Amino acid sequence: MRHALTSGVLLAALVLGEGAVPSAQPVSRTPRLYDEPLRPRIHFSPPRNFMNDPNGLVHYDGEYHLFYQYNPQGTTWGHMSWGHAVSRDLLHWEHLPLALGEADGVMIFSGSAVVDRGNTSGLCRGRSADRSCLVAIYTGHGHGRQTQNLAVSQDRGRTWTKYAGNPVLDLGLKDFRDPKVFWHAPTRRWVMVTVLPDQHKVRFFGSLDLKTWTALSDFGPAGATGGVWECPDLIEVPLEHEPGRTRWVLDVDLNPGGPWGGSGGQYFVGTFDGTRFVSDDPPGQVRWVDHGKDFYASLSFSDLPARERGPIWMGWISNWQYANEEPTETWRGAQSLPRRLMLRRAPDGWRLIQQPTGGLSALMDPDPTRHQVLRDSLPLPPSADMTFVVSAADQSEVGLRLSNELGEEVLIAVSADRTTLSIDRQRSRQGSSPQGYAERHTGPLRPLPQVPVRVIFDRSVIEVFANEGETVMTERVYPTRPFTRIEWIGGRRPASGSTRLLALKTIWPSSR
Ligand code: FRU
Repeated sequence: MRHALTSGVLLAALVLGEGAVPSAQPVSRTPRLYDEPLRPRIHFSPPRNFMNDPNGLVHYDGEYHLFYQYNPQGTTWGHMSWGHAVSRDLLHWEHLPLALGEADGVMIFSGSAVVDRGNTSGLCRGRSADRSCLVAIYTGHGHGRQTQNLAVSQDRGRTWTKYAGNPVLDLGLKDFRDPKVFWHAPTRRWVMVTVLPDQHKVRFFGSLDLKTWTALSDFGPAGATGGVWECPDLIEVPLEHEPGRTRWVLDVDLNPGGPWGGSGGQYFVGTFDGTRFVSDDPPGQVRWVDHGKDFYASLSFSDLPARERGPIWMGWISNWQYANEEPTETWRGAQSLPRRLMLRRAPDGWRLIQQPTGGLSALMDPDPTRHQVLRDSLPLPPSADMTFVVSAADQSEVGLRLSNELGEEVLIAVSADRTTLSIDRQRSRQGSSPQGYAERHTGPLRPLPQVPVRVIFDRSVIEVFANEGETVMTERVYPTRPFTRIEWIGGRRPASGSTRLLALKTIWPSSR
């Protein structure tokens, strides 16, 4: 691992030349934590070291918990443990100590967390009025097998104790992981969703007490099976414009075999009766969650307060093809903004709609001159929320070019016929870049008369939501200098509709 401090000193030595005596003033100041050149300002990333999947997303006692796959010892995957952060608004995160650490040759792989209201497990010792505690359900990985295990916290997630009766589920398999647990009210029991990765199967289990589990049913193989299945989630999702009505979304990630190679997420829409998930689609149909290359292992929050109106999930913004080679060096991995989910009726069945949860306006830069109508060319702030609308009157490709003084650029565009959204990062980084990075990716768009596009830019993160979240593309970008300029592709801005850029403040107190 190379420390930021070391590289600052090195740079100073290079600039001064060999043998020069450094002055008291360092030539190049080491950037402050969360102010490094590629560091997202409004997305969560670990202060240092390697992060992958979000884990254990749960709301409890006024706090949203984000646990995450984390290597406390290095900047590439290994020693997997659960890192931990909390938030009161789903925007600002406070880092907490490691929640669950590797021990006795067993790593802590992905999983979920629930509030055990009423102490169904008998493991809650706290004094809360509803006798509740937090229970994490995770995969133990080691000694040639993967098993499902519990850990309990009596103090709002600050400290955790692994359950003495672990594992609670052991099929004697090498690959059996990523438990997502939720309370299924109609059948009054806990349901666990797991994967048998190499068999391309989701296996459901049921339990009354989180400790004893019985198999309920299997789903799969179905959809995309070009890699192992990982990180399943089963979510009851509201239907757009149909108050009170829902359908179930089964999210299954796979690696490799994603839409652009490497990892990616797919989903199935159907019914769930507490025992069995039945998909509406024929087995060969594939629906991608996100058409960019960097959105994986999305996980929905458990126990959301009623005011949240529907499920919210977050995903890891990377791809296993190059996650260990991201050029951020002292830290690796970012989580998406929390996204609210909905289902929309489309001509070919249900579409998953993902929209960033509200609240971003709280990050609006107080300086009004930094919010702009997107004119021909503008300075690009380090983080911004931009919108434009493409219509039939636009007879050519329309979109944004983000660039720097070196001519490095990323292009975000809607095709002339409005049937494709694209992110082109082929010229976004000079010199070497990870294999599979310098590519152009596209997602299918419904060519509605008006196609609204929202682009959230955050130094090295781009999340694009078109048609109000019907087509979503998420990608990291690694320019060697910050992107500071924004222009319309082809010099033309959309013929109609409003265009705007809102500059966003950082969420991290230690930086500006
Ligand atoms: C998905 C995944 C999970 C596993 C974890 C290990 O990215 O491979 O299946 O639990 O990461 O870090």
